[in-house]
Amino acid sequence: MSSFDETLLDETDETVRIRLVVNGRKIACEVAPRETLVDCLRDKLELTGTHAGCEMGACGACLVQIDGRAAHSCLIFAVQADGARIETIEGLTESGVIADLQAEFHRRNALQCGFCTPGMLVNAQELLSQATQPSREDIRDALSGNYCRCTGYEAIIDAIDAVAKARRESGGAT
Ligand code: FES
Ligand code: FES
Repeated sequence: MSSFDETLLDETDETVRIRLVVNGRKIACEVAPRETLVDCLRDKLELTGTHAGCEMGACGACLVQIDGRAAHSCLIFAVQADGARIETIEGLTESGVIADLQAEFHRRNALQCGFCTPGMLVNAQELLSQATQPSREDIRDALSGNYCRCTGYEAIIDAIDAVAKARRESGGAT
């Protein structure tokens, strides 16, 4: 007779109901206990602007804001985000809060395939909300966890640097 415990199968199938505020909208969804937040955002909520790259916290493609701070959505189970306020690249775009960064990335060709770009923008916004006068070295440091396979980074740093200066001249960070 097999010693396999069939109740384990039931546990695998279990889902948990979570509530989130995503891009200003209250949502509830059923997630598996081991489902990551990035998978929940992309697969359940169809917010595919958040990308899944390495899925181990190294590439920055999955960055979103959780309760106002940039965080890797691949390193968080969706159940751990229960009750949180999440802003994805879609929400940040809708609100216009990163419009200057997006325009500057576009103007300077700071993207090619665009896979890394949502994470770059979330991280740039995080940096500029924390430091009003980042040096180019500060910007490089801040982006050290964001991998780009295409651009060589220089145009990205130029774009963030230009926005930092523009925000400073116009009286503060967005
Ligand atoms: S997918 Fe999360 S850091 Fe790479
Ligand atoms: S633009 Fe292609 S990975 Fe950055």
